[in-house]
Amino acid sequence: MTDCLRPDIAILDADITMTMPKQIAAETGMDALTHAIEAYTNHNLDDFDEGLCMAAIRGIMKWLPVSYQEESKESREKMHNYQAMAGIGFANVGLGMVHGIAHSFGAAFNMAHGLTNAVILPYVLKYNSRNETVAEKLSELSYHCRCDDIIRAIEEMRETLHIPESFAAAGLSEEDFKNKRELLIEHAMLGATKVNPVVMDIESMSRMIDTVYYGGTIDF
Ligand SMILES: [Fe+2]
Repeated sequence: MTDCLRPDIAILDADITMTMPKQIAAETGMDALTHAIEAYTNHNLDDFDEGLCMAAIRGIMKWLPVSYQEESKESREKMHNYQAMAGIGFANVGLGMVHGIAHSFGAAFNMAHGLTNAVILPYVLKYNSRNETVAEKLSELSYHCRCDDIIRAIEEMRETLHIPESFAAAGLSEEDFKNKRELLIEHAMLGATKVNPVVMDIESMSRMIDTVYYGGTIDF
């Protein structure tokens, strides 16, 4: 992303979040979680952004379900703050393959950015956990978020937020998917995928694209 698109200031006023429809709160919240986790697991992570991203992840895991279910001022304010912290983190550090694939599906099918990230995030974390450093960071996140397995906890939160676990379940037709499959793979290799902690090849990406569409396990 070019620097001229980055904001100079952010106004964090929770009042303006109170009329946000709850499904938008859910999807944009999952986008913020993806920002924080992709920056946290990116090999460029530095000490300052480690603090911002860790606090954002811990806060979002706690407060996003509350913001969705109760729509309280306190929970919306917490999410507003944590998404800004995650935003600072990823602006400094970079993202990863979740965003690379999300941009590909979003552009091809005009799908909401938060929704695409929310579908893809657990699959990519499972894939990236083959990298020892990423696996270690994920177990740190499990510890700090007080759960046995951060990836499973994200899948459970996604369910609570009524977000589907695949693009097929989200209603994208198989015909549309197959028509654009090659283009999806090609575009998903670009952008943020280039700074993914695990280097991708076309064969692995094509299997990843099929998995996020149909669902299933990461066994490649
Ligand atoms: Fe994003």
